[in-house]
Amino acid sequence: MSSIEQTLSIIKPDAVERNLTDKIKTIFTENNLKIKETKKLHITKDEASEFYKVHQSKPFYNDLCGYLSSGPIVVLILEGDNAVKINRKLMGATDPKKAEENTIRKLYGISIDKNSVHGSDSLENAKKEIDFFFKS
Ligand code: CDP
Ligand code: MG
Repeated sequence: MSSIEQTLSIIKPDAVERNLTDKIKTIFTENNLKIKETKKLHITKDEASEFYKVHQSKPFYNDLCGYLSSGPIVVLILEGDNAVKINRKLMGATDPKKAEENTIRKLYGISIDKNSVHGSDSLENAKKEIDFFFKS
């Protein structure tokens, strides 16, 4: 059954810094995900802490928020059939060492923290994350 969804992707500082934005966007569009909105921005650590607050009890939370706010990021709204799941599949496993061949994290990820992309993990979180960056 077809189900058109929107999901949020973030191209993280390590990938923006290495000029991988266009290559990553091409992976999305070649896999039936339309880029409905995109913008480049540099968030503060407080904003990153708010965005990642589901992880606030994790040992890596402070570093994660410091990292996401360490340089420019590109945020995107992706739309397509099963967009949440398709994006997660294109991203690959959190740890690039464990990511499947040809996934974004396998191709470009440096380490578990510098893993090049974020993607919403459910339709519910996708809505919240899209609002976080695009609700005016
Ligand atoms: O990004 P993903 O949904 O695959 O993973 P997560 O479990 O939601 O973790 C969010 C982010 O925290 C990851 O993308 C990693 O950058 C970072 N992380 C980390 O630095 N060290 C870990 N042991 C686990 C996650
Ligand atoms: Mg996650």
